[in-house]
Amino acid sequence: MDKKYYILTFGCQANERDSETLAGILQKTGYVPAAELFDADIILFNTCCIREKAENKVLSQVGELKELKAEKPDLIIGICGCMVQQEKMAEKIHRRAPHVDLIFGTHNLDQLPELIKKLEETKTPQTQILADLQEIKEDLPTVREVPFKARVNITYGCNNFCTYCIVPYVRGREKSREPQYILKEIKDLVADGVVEVMLLGQNVNSYGKTFDPPVTFAHLLEQVNAIEGLKRIRYLTSHPRDFNVDLIKTISGLAKVCPHFHLPLQSGSNKILQKMNRGYTREHYRELVETVREYVPSASITTDIIVGFPGETDEDFQDTIELVKELRFDSAFTFIYSARTGTLAAKMKDQIPLAVKKSRLQQLMQVQNEISLAINSQLEGQVVEVLVDGCSKKDQAILEGRTATNKTVLFAGSKELIGKFVDVEITDPQTWVLKGKLK
Ligand code: SAH
Ligand code: SF4
Ligand code: F3S
Repeated sequence: MDKKYYILTFGCQANERDSETLAGILQKTGYVPAAELFDADIILFNTCCIREKAENKVLSQVGELKELKAEKPDLIIGICGCMVQQEKMAEKIHRRAPHVDLIFGTHNLDQLPELIKKLEETKTPQTQILADLQEIKEDLPTVREVPFKARVNITYGCNNFCTYCIVPYVRGREKSREPQYILKEIKDLVADGVVEVMLLGQNVNSYGKTFDPPVTFAHLLEQVNAIEGLKRIRYLTSHPRDFNVDLIKTISGLAKVCPHFHLPLQSGSNKILQKMNRGYTREHYRELVETVREYVPSASITTDIIVGFPGETDEDFQDTIELVKELRFDSAFTFIYSARTGTLAAKMKDQIPLAVKKSRLQQLMQVQNEISLAINSQLEGQVVEVLVDGCSKKDQAILEGRTATNKTVLFAGSKELIGKFVDVEITDPQTWVLKGKLK
């Protein structure tokens, strides 16, 4: 009987993409997917450590597997991903969870078969963690869950060192992938039935700077846009410092690039932006938003905001609230600042008490939710084009999909529409979703 695998993925799109590679590697090694965790012969936790909460969740879930491992001694439990790249984390995991068999880093995915083999031969836990990626590994096998949408890496790592952020420490230095590999991957995907790609990088706007001669992100987009059969292009994430008018103009002329701009603001206070090492001011950010709206009037604009960064006063927080009210984002991911060991901000004075952070988060969410609802309400009665992703988790008779502007639309329809583009009339716009009916 075939051995079965089960992968739990935490964190961002970079991890989601890595889990597709892990699945590909395991299938190539002879494993098949397990329907449930308890059926699996190997369970992998692909972890995130962006905030403390993410990390605690993993440790507690791994802890819960102790009994299963006692019942099934041949079960392999592995932990990989960003969390294990942190200093002394492997030791900590071994101490807290001695039933873990494999620990491997974000640059060691391809070594999984070898680690499994060594584990089986020696019956001793295996650890393999490279501090940084030496060379981008092309052609690793991949298994995607959705046949019509795909994530495509364009850069790995990050050089920005925003003072709150752990990513540069756990994902290493920024490296761009050669355009020919990216374009070939997308052409193959399209031949395989993919209609939408998401280009991935921690800061996509700095793509290609190190090539000789340099390739710009705008140029890459133009080439991807020219691929026949591809319908939608998305990208994540744009850093406001490296985002510019030329790129906005290019995007406005490329029909397949979705009119959705995710531009993480982080804070509306210039003092805090500087302490975060973000490299832009609120004025620069405002100008970018105005330029986007000038060139792409149909665009949705979304953002990320952190509250309670060290030294954030009530006035600084009000600067954020004011800017949010002025710029009117379609939606925002809002986070409570979480101190990450090893980052500069974790050592800063004036850490903000949790109660204050929580209250600021509530205020910000309330302001943003009102704006989101007001913006979405304008869509009532309009017909939007939706790529159908699947059935709603709550109700199998309801389909769920996304507009080009990345808004979630719910409507009644049959499963045959999954993977297709359909027109939906919006009848009941809400804060987080648009409800509608098929046209
Ligand atoms: N590279 C992307 C973001 C990656 S992390 C970018 O620069 O936009 C996604 C979001 O998590 C960030 O935009 C930030 O808002 C949030 N985040 C990162 N580190 C955090 C921390 N220590 N505490 C709280 N939120 C954090
Ligand atoms: Fe983190 Fe900043 Fe890099 Fe984004 S750009 S991953 S927030 S260091
Ligand atoms: Fe988390 Fe790593 Fe992404 S820390 S947010 S999974 S790059």
